Amino acid sequence: MTDINIAAAKINLEKKGFLDLDIDVNLDLFAEIERLKKEKNAIVLAHYYQEPDIQDVADYIGDSLGLAQKAQSTSADLIVFAGVHFMAETAKILNPHKKVVLPDLKAGCSLADSAPADLFQKFKDQYPDHVVITYINCSAGMKALSDVICTSSNAEAIINSFPPEQKIIFAPDKNLGAYLIKKTGRPMVLWNGSCIVHEIFSREKITKLKLANPGAKVIAHPECEEPVLELADYIGSTSALLKYTQNNPATAFIVATESGIIHQMQIQAPFKTFIPAPPDNMCACNDCPYMKLNTLEKLYLCMEYEEPQIIMQEHLMKAAKKPIERMLEISRQAGL
Ligand code: 13P
Ligand code: SF4
Repeated sequence: MTDINIAAAKINLEKKGFLDLDIDVNLDLFAEIERLKKEKNAIVLAHYYQEPDIQDVADYIGDSLGLAQKAQSTSADLIVFAGVHFMAETAKILNPHKKVVLPDLKAGCSLADSAPADLFQKFKDQYPDHVVITYINCSAGMKALSDVICTSSNAEAIINSFPPEQKIIFAPDKNLGAYLIKKTGRPMVLWNGSCIVHEIFSREKITKLKLANPGAKVIAHPECEEPVLELADYIGSTSALLKYTQNNPATAFIVATESGIIHQMQIQAPFKTFIPAPPDNMCACNDCPYMKLNTLEKLYLCMEYEEPQIIMQEHLMKAAKKPIERMLEISRQAGL
C-alpha cells in the first residue's frame, strides 16, 4: 500500500467515527476476525442487509427469524451481532448471561423508533380485549408490552395461532400489517409505523423497469407500501426472496428491498441478473442507513475490545423474553 493509500484509508476510518482507535491499515481484517472468533469462541451473526465484506466473514447470515433462532441455539461465548440494535437486543434477551456486541451502537431502525413504548402503552389501553402481536423490529420496551413477537417469515403462522374471533393489535409496521390483513383475512388494529427504506420505492419507476425488462420478476418485501406490493410477482421475507430467486426459472429480478440482499442472491445464482428497485428520488435510499453503519473495521474492533456491548435491565429482559420465546415455539411447531 502506498503512503497516499494509507492516508486515504485513515481519513476514511476517521470519517466513520474511529477518531481515537488507530487500526493498522496493513492488517488483514478477514484473517484477524477469524483469529478472534477462535480465541474468544465468538460467533458472527449477520443480517442480509449488511455490507458484502461483513456477510463474507459471518458464521451465519439470515433474516430476523433465522438470526433469533441462531442466537437461541448458539454455544458461543461472545455473540457478535452484525445487524441493527433491536436484533442484537433480541440476542441478548435470549442470552442474558453472554456478551453481545454490536459494531455500531447507533445502528437503530426507523420502524423501531416509530413506536415508543410509553405511547404504545396508551394506545394498547384503548383495546383491552385485543392481543398484541408485535413485529420484531421494535425496542425491548415494546416487546415487553406484547403477547407474541413475529417476523416477516412467521407472521401468518403467528396470527393464525390465535382463534379466529380473537381481536388483534399489530404493531409497529402499518405496511406489513395491511399486507397481513389481506393475506390472512383477519381484521387487525394497526399502529402507524413504517420503514424508511421500504417506503421509498417508486411504483412508476418499477413499472418502467418492468416494461424495459419483460422477463424480469418483481420481488418485494412486505414492509413496502401497497402500490409497490401490487406490482410484485412474489412477496416475502428476505430469506424467502432469496430462496425464490434461486428456485424460480426467471433469469432477471427487480428487487424491492434493501440492496444488501443482492450480494447473497448473486453468490447463490451467479448467472442471474438482479436489478435494485429504484427509489422515488435520486438518493441511495434502498441502502438502510442504520444497517450500513456497521463496517468490517468496526466489526473487527468490537471483537477485539468486546465493546460496545448490549447492556439491558434484568426486568426488561425477563418481560421481553416471554413473547420472543412464544414466537420461537410457534415457529418450531409450524416447522419454520
Ligand atoms: P427480514 O430479514 O426478517 O425479512 O426483515 C427485514 C428487515 O427490514 C430487517 O430490518
Ligand atoms: Fe429498520 Fe428498515 Fe433498516 Fe430494516 S431496513 S433496519 S426495518 S430501517
